Amino acid sequence: MCGIIGFCGYLDAKQELIKGLAELEYRGYDSAGIACFTERGIEVVKSVGKVAGLENKLPSRMESGCGIGHTRWATHGGVSEVNAHPHQCGNVTLIHNGIIENYHELAKELEETGRVPSSQTDTEIAAMLLDSLYHGDALAALRGAVDRLEGAYAFCIMFADQKDVIYCIRKGSPLVCCSSEEGSVVASDMVALLRYSKEYFVLPEYQVAKVTKNTITVMELDGTVVSPVMLSIHWDMSAAQKNGFKHYMLKEIHEQPEAIRRTLAPRMKKGEQLLPDFSEDGISDELFWDTNRVVITACGTAMHAGMMGRILMERLLRIPVSVEVASEFRYEDPILDEKSLVILVSQSGETADTLAALRLAKEKGAKTLSIVNVKGSSIARESDYVLYTHAGPEIAVASTKAYTAQLTAFYLLAFRFAYVAGKLSAQEVSEYMKGLDGVGELMEKVLEQKDKMKELSKRLTPAQDLFFIGRSLDYALSCEGSIKLKEITYIHSEAYAAGELKHGTLSLITGGVPVIALATQADVFAKMISNVKEVRARGAMVILITKEGNTAAIENGICDEHLVVPASDDIFAPFTAAIILQLLAYYTSSYRGLDVDQPRNLAKSVTVE
Ligand code: F6R
Repeated sequence: MCGIIGFCGYLDAKQELIKGLAELEYRGYDSAGIACFTERGIEVVKSVGKVAGLENKLPSRMESGCGIGHTRWATHGGVSEVNAHPHQCGNVTLIHNGIIENYHELAKELEETGRVPSSQTDTEIAAMLLDSLYHGDALAALRGAVDRLEGAYAFCIMFADQKDVIYCIRKGSPLVCCSSEEGSVVASDMVALLRYSKEYFVLPEYQVAKVTKNTITVMELDGTVVSPVMLSIHWDMSAAQKNGFKHYMLKEIHEQPEAIRRTLAPRMKKGEQLLPDFSEDGISDELFWDTNRVVITACGTAMHAGMMGRILMERLLRIPVSVEVASEFRYEDPILDEKSLVILVSQSGETADTLAALRLAKEKGAKTLSIVNVKGSSIARESDYVLYTHAGPEIAVASTKAYTAQLTAFYLLAFRFAYVAGKLSAQEVSEYMKGLDGVGELMEKVLEQKDKMKELSKRLTPAQDLFFIGRSLDYALSCEGSIKLKEITYIHSEAYAAGELKHGTLSLITGGVPVIALATQADVFAKMISNVKEVRARGAMVILITKEGNTAAIENGICDEHLVVPASDDIFAPFTAAIILQLLAYYTSSYRGLDVDQPRNLAKSVTVE
């Protein structure tokens, strides 16, 4: 939600800010702006639309080595130049990621002192507040502002009388920093730091980073200097580039076999039997012995991975497992105690609702384990245990490789948990682990058939409504297929548990409506085929997805199109079928001429409620 960057160093700041904003654009892309210290003072340029539009507007005379940049996802106030960041008031120029919840009350107070905002944003109120508190001492002003501001924020601030210095502070929203020969850089996401350094730190909440071209000094609000905890990035620049693919999404779909292998490798200790091993993650078996209930909570695609995790864990462990949408869970009064394990799932590790759910679970005394992709993110840092997925940077707004890496993490947990609980023998787990180890190869086989999905997508392109149906694991995957399709193609779509269709929704199935039916699970295969016949009888255009070997009962004419995933144990079919659904969504979006990587109204990292 909004990308922010600050650069102070020996290169042309405006160019560095533009490069950084382009890398952060997936966080928000309705408007963008930069501010730089120049010999004429602080100069600001803003524009509505994408970063490329901002770049075209930059005056060449804007010579500077120090500035801040922002790419916006509108929350307060519509998409307009005046609402775009940076915001200025008196001595203060700042950019912000987050939401100031009490901005209305602050605005009223400030208005009484004669300060009237020109935009509709909460951020301008923060700039006004800071300016009212600033009398030459940045720390004093920040202390005063922190006392008054409610909500979430990451700020980069320039004071007009402190040339070539940027102050940063955060609460809730992310901010990472690095130093390099070229200068000092701060950003919302380490993706924008990769160009400068692989060593970085996360700015702790309520601490201040004073950024100059040679150093970043981190201080408590009282001025005590502290040493930040340094982290290393194991990705290189190419991981965050398109590498010849037309879109990030297509590249990330192709990266899934590797992402799964990377997620598996540190947890596959080959002994006599192949058992999942979490010793490098610091997750001991005690965690499992001591758990009588699991609650999984997350948002969107991560929550769909949790739905898969629930079925698997409950099936293998025989203990109650539930899945809750984090934005609901956080406002309920969940029944949790020290024997409950709450699993949080998040690619970014910064999703505001998931973070709040984590804090609530801890408050209630539950143990917390997070499945997170971004190292050092808030959710990872605040959880009792972290199981990192090693999917690498995911740039496309539509999550693909993070999803299947999250599934991998759930499979590992379920297998280990079932073994520790005595529900599966070492040999049974070892067999499952071999299956999981082979998933990457099976996914590669599906990727080799991508032209089939490309061709088939032509039939989906004109659709206005579309339905996904499935049972058990296939239903969980249907939910993911549906969100993927709707977010990037703008086709209305719904996922239904196939047996539920006849309780109302069947009335929407008319001639030609596409129905994507997933039937990869042998135990419910016959039931699924009956459901397919029901929609077929109402004229639906059926795309049936089955697994090699499960095709015996498929009669001629039961579907319009038939796709088959490679043979495997049924529990691994979601990995291969996921690729089919992702590719159908991808090609349909491309045929509709849409912005696949940055669909309208969305942003990748949702750090506001
Ligand atoms: C959909 C998608 C979103 C995210 C959701 C949670 O393709 O990407 O639904 O899954 O916003 O984000 P994270 O996983 O970062 O917590």
